[in-house]
Amino acid sequence: MKKEVVAIILAAGKGTRMKSSLSKVLHPILGVPLLGYPVEACRKAGVSDVVAVIGHQGEAVREVFRDTGLVFAVQEEQKGTGHAVLCARDGVGEGKGVALILCGDVPLIRPETLQALLESHLSSGNLVTVLSMAPENPAGYGRLVRSDKGGLLSIVEEKDATAEEKEIKEVNTGTYAVTMPWLWGALGQVGSDNSQGEYYLTDIVKIAAREGKAGSLLLGDPVEVMGINDRAQLAEASLHMRARINRTWMESGVTIEDPSSAWIEPEAVIGEDVTIGPGVSLAGRTVVGRGVVIGQGTLVKDSEIAPGAIVKPYCVIEKAFVGERAVIGPFAHLRPKSKILAEAKAGNFVEIKNSVIGDGSKVSHLSYIGDSEVGRNVNVGAGTITCNYDGANKWGTKIGDGAFIGSNSSLVAPVSIGAGAVVGAGSTITKDVPPGSLGIGRAMQKSISGWKKPVKKTGGDK
Ligand code: UD1
Ligand code: CA
Repeated sequence: MKKEVVAIILAAGKGTRMKSSLSKVLHPILGVPLLGYPVEACRKAGVSDVVAVIGHQGEAVREVFRDTGLVFAVQEEQKGTGHAVLCARDGVGEGKGVALILCGDVPLIRPETLQALLESHLSSGNLVTVLSMAPENPAGYGRLVRSDKGGLLSIVEEKDATAEEKEIKEVNTGTYAVTMPWLWGALGQVGSDNSQGEYYLTDIVKIAAREGKAGSLLLGDPVEVMGINDRAQLAEASLHMRARINRTWMESGVTIEDPSSAWIEPEAVIGEDVTIGPGVSLAGRTVVGRGVVIGQGTLVKDSEIAPGAIVKPYCVIEKAFVGERAVIGPFAHLRPKSKILAEAKAGNFVEIKNSVIGDGSKVSHLSYIGDSEVGRNVNVGAGTITCNYDGANKWGTKIGDGAFIGSNSSLVAPVSIGAGAVVGAGSTITKDVPPGSLGIGRAMQKSISGWKKPVKKTGGDK
């Protein structure tokens, strides 16, 4: 973009129809608060200076978007969209370039559309360019009123429109490009003499039209600017967004077996030839490497799955790392700070927390491994538990390279099993086992000869 551009996103409204104690623009779509979408669309369109006008629950909104570079302007009282934009004046500055104005509750708007609007505005020399659309049902929207020759004259709100004006099919999407600093002067001329007693941003159109410098760009697909007013629309927008994200990944070489149930959040990154089963969620900042297979019903959140790994059905993986060609699940739970290194395994009904499982090591069945460092090529037998909690503190367990832990053992931390050591099945290990030795901690087996089996009583109660 040749000229300086700043975006103003209007998000001070109450969102009454959400019937929620949470601000409308904080309701998530695919894990990201609503307001995040138009902000991201502006940034992807090359507009990095973004000012959000907040009001209702402004503090909560500010908190969620802290450290994102978003600038906030406060509109204490909601006196209309024109007044909201004026409230952004300090945050925006007088400006030389163009203000891109959009609504905070329009998550599906695409960066390409914003770019097209800016380009149309700059090439036309207009003072205002309105993004318009022609939906099947124009009810509720401001109508674009044109002269006989087709020039844009004004926007009239539905509530102020005559019966004839209500027949107009082309409406205002609430998205505009406006030349600065002309914007501020024009807003200064806008009054509130209308049916709602509000300062309408749309009134700047007729001011620009007096100089013949009001224009519009017609948007092909009205879905892009669908506004979210209630929870049904929130769900509908989520559906569109999911479809859009899924399509993008499929186009880049990802197999999604059932796009209607896959849940891929916007920040996930997926490599080529990945296969995603039905009902899989890739949430937050998840990275999935080339060739990974993720089985049905698995949730991966804020985690990295390295190339070639296999995650079988119904696993939960959160803030964890899965190494190359590692195998996880089915029904495994990797909790935060778990690292399953290359070609290692965390199998059926295994829970791992804050532990490293070294290259080629296997924890195949029914285990809990917490606060542990497991070396390379270790075999952890079925049902092994690291007893990491003494009721007050958490302690660590170390298992050296090549060790073998017999099934159903309890390793009472802090404890260390040396490299190449063996722990006998069913042991409760409370002392370190030196490298290369056998550690066994269980009652010795006895065989009592001539053992008399109990005999069933006769008579009396059964
Ligand atoms: C507005 C437009 C209308 C357009 C429609 C598209 C005006 C006067 N009308 O109507 O032409 O067809 O959007 O959806 O602009 N907001 C504030 N402060 C306020 C009022 C609103 O921040 O004082 C914010 C809202 O949070 C919302 C956006 O501005 O994000 C639009 O407000 P809304 O009340 O939905 O506008 P409409 O009356 O529907
Ligand atoms: Ca609206």
